[in-house]
Amino acid sequence: MAPSTFFHIIFSVFVFCLCSSFSDAAYPSNRVSISSPSHLPKLQAEKLIRELNLFPKSSINTAAGNASVSAAPKNIVEKQFSLNPLGDPGLSVQEFGHHAGYYRLPHTQAARMFYLFFESRKSKSEPVVIWLTGGPGCGSEVALFYENGPFHIADNMSLIWNDYGWDKVSNLLFVDQPTGTGFSYTTNEDDVRHDEKGVSNDLYDFLQAFFTEHPQYAKNDFYITGESYAGHYIPAFAARVDQGNKAKEGIRINLKGFAIGNGLTNPEIQYKAYTEYALNMRLIQQSDYDKINNLIPTCEQTIRTCESDGGDACLSSYATCNDIFNSIMQIAGDINYYDIRKKCEGNLCYDFSNMERFLNQKSVKDALGVGNIEFVSCSSTVYEAMLMDWMRNLEVGIPALLEDGIRVLIYAGEYDLICNWLGNSRWVHAMEWSGKKEFGAARTIPFTVDGAEAGQMKSHGPLTFLKVHDAGHMVPMDQPKASLQMLESWMQGKLPLTRTEGSTYPN
Ligand SMILES: *[C@@H]1O[C@H](CO)[C@@H](O)[C@H](O)[C@H]1NC(C)=O
Ligand SMILES: *[C@@H]1O[C@H](CO)[C@@H](O)[C@H](O)[C@H]1NC(C)=O
Repeated sequence: MAPSTFFHIIFSVFVFCLCSSFSDAAYPSNRVSISSPSHLPKLQAEKLIRELNLFPKSSINTAAGNASVSAAPKNIVEKQFSLNPLGDPGLSVQEFGHHAGYYRLPHTQAARMFYLFFESRKSKSEPVVIWLTGGPGCGSEVALFYENGPFHIADNMSLIWNDYGWDKVSNLLFVDQPTGTGFSYTTNEDDVRHDEKGVSNDLYDFLQAFFTEHPQYAKNDFYITGESYAGHYIPAFAARVDQGNKAKEGIRINLKGFAIGNGLTNPEIQYKAYTEYALNMRLIQQSDYDKINNLIPTCEQTIRTCESDGGDACLSSYATCNDIFNSIMQIAGDINYYDIRKKCEGNLCYDFSNMERFLNQKSVKDALGVGNIEFVSCSSTVYEAMLMDWMRNLEVGIPALLEDGIRVLIYAGEYDLICNWLGNSRWVHAMEWSGKKEFGAARTIPFTVDGAEAGQMKSHGPLTFLKVHDAGHMVPMDQPKASLQMLESWMQGKLPLTRTEGSTYPN
């Protein structure tokens, strides 16, 4: 979540770098310029330029998709594909399909949302799970290939089945969103989104079209999951679905719950937790802690102004509050702020270059039906366009969803600094809802995998908080087996193990 050097949530690092000094040189004509909010953070980022190994050729996909998709008569153009992964898919007792498609977003001038759909390796009657990667502006392919997708990419560009892909227990959807992210594109810059209203409406429209195209899945349970900046997207999207259901709009979506991994949801509480987490983890000393904490009152003040005034106040809040994070990083040095046990290796702290290599192969693009679009891992334009959304508090919509019985799982790998577990735990505990007191009083109990403690969790009613051991920002990458079990148990209603429920948990 911090700007500049590190900012945020997966990959912002380079996104941010991208948007500043390279912009003129590296992005020629098809760069979309977003007029209002970009100047301030651009200036801010000037200081923090690094070499990038995932350097998109263009900052956003605009006209690249061309006619084949645009001219299609239907709103959804979908194809089944096979990328011939190696190894054993496991579990399968039936045929299962992998699909890629474009959806023409109706409330836009010309936007097409790219998605991938993997039928469950277990059964088509398993829940439908959608995953949203953060950024804002990072493609869902990051999660697909490095976290919870059906396969990983080997160095020789072969795909290998992931034994812990979430498609083992769900029918799994990945979307590239907001518009301009990954393989999604538009020919009209007016389609670029700036807030959660635009984002959640597009996602809702997509779901309606998806279930129209695949009516056999509409009755399945439906869960929304994601990570990082999706801590903003997910509560907004869940609220949009709930609202659509209540208003009897279109197809009823069988929303049962949502899960946020290492998310940014309540910035005020989360930014205030940085120094304490850093002190506890010995990234800074007491004297640093005292000094950096002096930045907190101004950050709080600007957040309040952002909430009341919006607009530029939200940009200045973003800049002010991220001073806290940057001050910590100046002291912590070259640690990986997504996993403080590690050094920041290469330009990104993680090396995801295989993904770009893989997705930009012609054979792969042909298989996915994406024409000649250059795959953009993280779009700086999308990132910049969403900056005014950054400091918004998305926690406010969650209590109403809890009261409607929608299950909420907030989980966090314990070694992530940027969206650390402490800040997440704090906002979850501070949230006002009917079960607040009971949740606060609930016992913390172990989350066990294969008989060993893999985390600690706490829950009451529909709300669960889980701190995952030995994991950073990307829990399914660091703890694939635990993350798969987490998802499965949670969807089965067995994860929220509370005092009163006794030991329903299988391990
Ligand atoms: C765009 O589509 C037209 C035909 O509609 C085709 O002639 C042209 O080569 C396409 N351009 C690209 C870059 O694919
Ligand atoms: C590519 O790498 C995978 C995993 O290391 C290996 O199983 C496979 O045989 C390799 N394929 C080729 C063509 O070398």
